[in-house]
Amino acid sequence: MKTIGIGIIGGGLMGREMASAFGRWCALTDVEVQPQLVAVADLVEPVREWFRRIPSCTQITADYHELLANPAVDVVYVAVPHHLHEAIYLDVLKAGKDLFAEKPFGIDLASSRRILEACQSSGRFVRCSSEFPFFPGAQRVLQEAQSGRLGRVLQVVSGFHHSSDLDATKPGNWKRFSKSCGEIGVLGDLGMHACHLPLRLGWKPARLFAQLQKGHPTRPDGKGGTVACDTWDNALLHSWIRIGEDDVPMRLEMKRMAPGETNTWFFEVLGTEGGARYSTKEPKTLWLFENGKEQFWRRTDLGFGMPFKAVTGGIFEPGFPDVIQQMWAAFLSERNGTLADRFGCATPEEAVASQEIFAAALRSQAEGSVVTLD
Ligand SMILES: NC(=O)c1ccc[n+]([C@@H]2O[C@H](COP(=O)([O-])OP(=O)(O)OC[C@H]3O[C@@H](n4cnc5c(N)ncnc54)[C@H](O)[C@@H]3O)[C@@H](O)[C@H]2O)c1
Repeated sequence: MKTIGIGIIGGGLMGREMASAFGRWCALTDVEVQPQLVAVADLVEPVREWFRRIPSCTQITADYHELLANPAVDVVYVAVPHHLHEAIYLDVLKAGKDLFAEKPFGIDLASSRRILEACQSSGRFVRCSSEFPFFPGAQRVLQEAQSGRLGRVLQVVSGFHHSSDLDATKPGNWKRFSKSCGEIGVLGDLGMHACHLPLRLGWKPARLFAQLQKGHPTRPDGKGGTVACDTWDNALLHSWIRIGEDDVPMRLEMKRMAPGETNTWFFEVLGTEGGARYSTKEPKTLWLFENGKEQFWRRTDLGFGMPFKAVTGGIFEPGFPDVIQQMWAAFLSERNGTLADRFGCATPEEAVASQEIFAAALRSQAEGSVVTLD
């Protein structure tokens, strides 16, 4: 196995999730690369403290420039608030490191385009984090959509629902302020997850109409006061995509206020001959529609049929930490030239395309009209 030195900038929720995926790398049985966490940078001491439990992580610093100067770091994963994406991603590329970026890949469309330009001129290997397509059920819906078996496609639905913002007592953090989350709000927070598979299939909206809703206008600030929250919390994008000769409706749903949903990612394609549906609500289950004299929705439990094989028994259900690890296996394998025909991570171009969709959604909401995308 080839060992790749990883540095993490931003050791919060996602920084720790990624670090723990490396710690469990022995679970994978068909990868030729091994990530090793060697450095972490975070501004907050209690956040840095957690990383002291990882013996290989010998550089723990508040200043990410020190991490970028470390020759043991080959790849940098960056998980910081959205208003910091551009400056830090550009610094990573300038330092000559490969980059695993977080979505939404810049605070807005203009920022994501500047990041893409820097990726292209640097020649570094860059991908954007989006893990849900690595669920076996998601892979199967993708294959069905590509197979031609579905007949004429009638409708596509892709979305991601949370309910965490329903709790009005939850303190406001950077994800609830436009200045740090972006004017796109929930679109930047959850949108890449909803757009990734449609974009991979070449299904970018040609036109769309957006319905955006705000969440609670104020929240506790965590220090005894209140703070104003101004981001969009729910988004429904009703769009048209072009498939062959047909204009097909596609709905993209991103919600931080979806009653009862903790972390539900879903993707569904319905056609005249067949259909396919997957949701993380039932993490090992695939639904396939069969047309005929009688119509059937067939349900099968796929179990742990991951793109990268693992020691985990085939009957067991996959979960969030598993797809995070699979995504890293795809990132490192593609970088190594050994991805073969497996699914690759979201590209910088796909991330920018998702931002084009979000910018169109803001325009549609402001104008109350259907907007045409470039
Ligand atoms: N792929 C996913 O499923 C997923 C899930 C959640 C968040 N995210 C994305 O990950 C990114 C981070 O989100 P999070 O939920 O981990 O946020 P978080 O607030 O939990 O963590 C962010 C961390 O960045 C640190 N930080 C801020 N400025 C810094 C700087 N200049 N140098 C070093 N560290 C700095 C903070 O101290 C904090 O610990 C965002 O882009 C978000 O959209 C992705």
